[in-house]
This record gives sequence, C-alpha cells and structure tokens, in this order.
Amino acid sequence: MGHRGRPGDRRGRGRRGDAAGWQPAALRQGRLAQPGFRLPRRAPGGGDRVTARLGPGEVARAAALLRQGALVAFPTETVYGLGGDATDGQAVAGIFAAKGRPHFNPLICHYPDAEAAFADVHADDRARALAARFWPGALTLVLPRRPTCRVDLLAGAGLDTLAVRVPAHPLALDLLRQAGMPVAAPSANRSGQVSPTTPEHVLDGLSGRIAAVLDGGACPVGVESTVLDLTGTGPVLLRPGGVEAEAIEALLGPVGRALPLAAAAASQSLRSPGLMLSHYAPSLPVRLGARSVAADEALLAFGPALPGAAVAWSLSEGGDLREAAARLFAGLRWLDAEGARQGCARIAVMPVPETGLGVAINDRLARAAAPRP
Ligand code: TXA
Ligand code: MG
Repeated sequence: MGHRGRPGDRRGRGRRGDAAGWQPAALRQGRLAQPGFRLPRRAPGGGDRVTARLGPGEVARAAALLRQGALVAFPTETVYGLGGDATDGQAVAGIFAAKGRPHFNPLICHYPDAEAAFADVHADDRARALAARFWPGALTLVLPRRPTCRVDLLAGAGLDTLAVRVPAHPLALDLLRQAGMPVAAPSANRSGQVSPTTPEHVLDGLSGRIAAVLDGGACPVGVESTVLDLTGTGPVLLRPGGVEAEAIEALLGPVGRALPLAAAAASQSLRSPGLMLSHYAPSLPVRLGARSVAADEALLAFGPALPGAAVAWSLSEGGDLREAAARLFAGLRWLDAEGARQGCARIAVMPVPETGLGVAINDRLARAAAPRP
C-alpha cells in the first residue's frame, strides 16, 4: 500500500526510509546533549538506534516527538500503547512496521476528550451516553468516520469506521492534550505477543524500534479496552475488556456478541481483525483449565495455588478478578521467561470464573492457548 506523506507535508521530508516513525536524525544525533533523555537502552544486535526512556515529567518532550512524526509508547490505564500521529500516514505505517502488524488490522485512535473524538466520527445518542458514563476509561467505540475525519485511512485499515477512545490515565491525557492530534495506538508489543503493562515490557519487544517510551509505571487495569461496535442497529461486543459487558448492558440493554472464538477461527470474514485467534502468545505452550499441575509445568494460579509446580505466578490469591486482570500479562511474560529458564514444557492455567473482568481474562488466555499460525 502506498502511504507516502501528502504533498507539502512537513513530515514527508528528511525521514529515514527504513523504519518510518523513527525519531528525526537531528534529534537522534543530538540526544546526548538533551537533558530530557536518560541513558537509552541499545537496540538488540548492537545497532545505533536507541529508545529513550522518558520520565513522567517529560510529557512535553513525548508530545513534541509525536508532532515530529516519531513513535512514542505511553501508559494508559489498560496497557501501554504504541503511539503515533494518526493524521500522518508515515507515522501510522511506522506503527505497523515497528509491531510487525498485518495492515488489515485497524488501530484505535486516542483523544483527550469525547468532543475531540466525536469531531472525527459520527456519534449517535448511544455513543454519547456511553462516553458520558465510561470516558475517560477502558471502552473503545467503533463508529462511522465523518467525511472530515483527519485520521489517515491506513490507521483504520481502509474501513469506513473508526475505533475511538479516551483513556483514563493522567499521563496519557496530558500527552494527548499536548500533542494536539488524534494518536493511533495499538498495544505496544510485537504483533502476536503478550501486551505490555510496564515500560520494561515495552522495551523488551520494541527497544530500538521506537523513539521513546513514557514511563508511567504499571498499568492499573491490565487488560485492553472493551471494543464495542456501534455501526449497526444493535451494539456488538467485538472484544471483552476493561469495562464489563454487564455495565454496558445496564446502560444500553442487550449487547450482541461477536462470533465466539472457535467459530471466529473458522470464519474467513472476521468482523474485527483483532479477533484473530492466536494472539497474546507466550513462547511456551499454554494448557487451560488446570486442576492439577505436573512437575515440568509453570503455573498461572487463580485463588490458592495448586501444589507441585516448578514455578508459579499468582494472579490473585484471594480470587479478585481486578487484581487478576492487572497481573495477567506480567504473569504470562514472567512464567514464559522463568519457565523456559527452568526447562518447563508448558504453562498450566487454573480456571478463572467467566464473569465480569473474568470474561476478558479468559478471552486473552484462550488466545494464548490457541494453535499458533
Ligand atoms: O486498551 C486498549 O484498547 C489498548 C490501549 C493502548 O488503548 N489498545 C489496543 O489496541 O489494545 P490494539 O490495536 O491492540 O487492539 C485494537 C482492537 C483490535 O482488535 C482491532 O481489530 C479493533 O480494536 N479495531 C480497531 N479498529 C476497528 C474498527 N474500525 N472496526 C472493528 N474493530 C476495530
Ligand atoms: Mg494488541
């Protein structure tokens, strides 16, 4: 697909051709003289590309990088996002390149408030009621693009709809206000891998591939936003997430469900490309519904841990689903690394109840356990 800058676009000039969205050369060369940049981590393989780690006091620098067309990972209440200027085709192409993400999978655009979001999409009464109730927060709305929508078509993968959200994280909101444009941001992980909930997770996957990560510590919710499609007559839940379906139904009445996982896998026409079955995959195989654990298994525990595992990570000893969601992706990453180090054959996962946030947790676990492509 051709995604060159529009004629006269300030970002169309002087950009590196190999990784669109990389920080401008002048800035890269000057980084050591800039007090805002901490000691950067080197790219794996000894390349000269570095990813700056920006502290919470450096939002203005992160916003400036976004305005220059560079890619900046930033914290949201759900997971870290890999942000780029959604109106800049090159920045958006850079997001896909940095993640290794298929171009048919559209991105969510992030805004500082509902008014800014609804300038780019048509919001009906349902959308306005949901925004009033859940924004800022972990709910993404898929709505029809306005003809005046500023967002580059590639960000929406060429669809006539757009996914929009206002995140509930003070650093994210500050960044979005200061950046002054819609920010396209998928989760800040390599495509198919586990979503990041700390800056360390981001750097594990993307160090050397993006300009900076804004450090906001651990993300409080821990699973991605709920994605709700409002483009048809009835609302449809495309992805369970941080806002429970029950809370949405309390406001809107019954909400349709997208195809269940197994049916989605068989279907050639997925309603939302993010419904792809294998996703969030650690490198060790994953076994669900474990009621006992073998000596060569790494255990992801919910409630009191099963005895006998080689290594174990507790999602929540007391069986609290919010705590479990917040600890899910960090646990999968840790068990994957530690389990592999100790020669484990797989990760065994104890059952998690299918209610409230448990629906989102089980959705991510089912994808982690799904056959790999
Ligand atoms: O919590 C979150 O939503 C995080 C943070 C960074 O905001 N973002 C995130 O983005 O999870 P991503 O790209 O990993 O997931 C976006 C999901 C995908 O399942 C995608 O297919 C779906 O939203 N999506 C985006 N635009 C869509 C559209 N126009 N129609 C249907 N689905 C869409
Ligand atoms: Mg993702």
